[in-house]
Amino acid sequence: MRLACSECAAEAAPDSLFCSICSGLLEFRLDQAAHDARALKVAFKERRTSNDSLDLSGVWRFRELLPQIPAEHVVTLRENVVPTYRAQTATAYADVTRLSYLHLGLNPTASFKDAGMTVAISHARSLGARVAICASTGNTAASMAAYAARAGMIAIVLVPAGAISEAKMAQTLDYGATVVAIDGDFDRALAIVRGLDPGRVAIVNSVNPYRIEGQKCAGFVLLESRYWSSPDWLILPGGNLGNSSAFGKGFREALALGLIDRIPKIGVVQASGAAPFAKLFHDGGDLVPVKAETDATAIRIGAPASWRKALAEVRASGGTVTTVTDEEIAEARAIVGSDGIGCEPASAASLAGLRRLRKDGTIERDDDIVLVLTGHMLKDSAYAAAFHASRERLANKIVRISREDSLRALIEKAGAVYA
Ligand code: F0G
Repeated sequence: MRLACSECAAEAAPDSLFCSICSGLLEFRLDQAAHDARALKVAFKERRTSNDSLDLSGVWRFRELLPQIPAEHVVTLRENVVPTYRAQTATAYADVTRLSYLHLGLNPTASFKDAGMTVAISHARSLGARVAICASTGNTAASMAAYAARAGMIAIVLVPAGAISEAKMAQTLDYGATVVAIDGDFDRALAIVRGLDPGRVAIVNSVNPYRIEGQKCAGFVLLESRYWSSPDWLILPGGNLGNSSAFGKGFREALALGLIDRIPKIGVVQASGAAPFAKLFHDGGDLVPVKAETDATAIRIGAPASWRKALAEVRASGGTVTTVTDEEIAEARAIVGSDGIGCEPASAASLAGLRRLRKDGTIERDDDIVLVLTGHMLKDSAYAAAFHASRERLANKIVRISREDSLRALIEKAGAVYA
């Protein structure tokens, strides 16, 4: 695999982070002629019954399609071993017939970030890096902290003060990172990190092309779980847009390699208060940063770093970009919960977005659709608790009883029949 600029296509030095000519983001280019689709499918499948630590990872299991990193440097927590689930309540909610969830919240640190972080931290370790750093709305922070801990590296995270969930902060601290809470938003934190010397610290935000390589494997996990048949649509939330780029790249490579015969349309969903990419997609021009505002703190991002890459991927897939309000996100998150699955607010933007795209006719009722759930429900339990406390929901669901016979009455009311 060789590293090149995603914008001007110039070759890049193996360990650089930005293009030395145009400062664009770098990306790996796969030599597709070097691979045989049938042999790859067999190897990927066989590794699922192996107990080798690389084979147990839903990233390293696809190692032929990743940058080569010596096995002794690989830091893995068995990431990306995640299920797809058939949606139940959400199917009627979105007015579709074929809907499933790819639950990346069931990763070791409970978000999709782990798939990319295993590659970025392994690479950093192979270079002998001592310190890893990132800007984060919370999930990248927790993931980096965990993988850095495993690698014996020092972890420093920059977060917008008071704007990440308690659970993510607690996780990050638990894994031993130093948290720098800045007086500013995520975009400011990322600008600070991008200004650092990548020769001195490992910058592991999704501007790092190794992250994208790991995250593209979520696409492979999904496709493999469907016997390498593509859905019509893949819908996911968009913040900094690394993940949208990664899925698009994975699908394109899978097509070029002959692993699949068509790529899914990619639907990116932004919170309406943090939607510069949606605006650009529909109005044209370059990205105009906004001051982001949404209760879905994970995607409170106003100047997404990977917008050019994501734009190219969404267009190549024939997909689209849409927005949803915080109210729509809250309602959709509760629906995912009622399916017995659960996710954090940002993840539910995917269901809310699907509902919109179905209403406006972009998506057909019988299309085969996969929603990406990016983070676990417990990532923001405070949000969920506040949701249930509002609008008298608690009054209906949490019932105080003074005597045991009222419990019996409750059970009978719910439909149980005593003999
Ligand atoms: N969903 C969740 C749960 C996230 O944490 C993020 C991003 C996204 C979606 C958006 O993904 O940025 O690749 O478009 N979280 C980053 C973080 C920014 O710092 O944890 P994206």
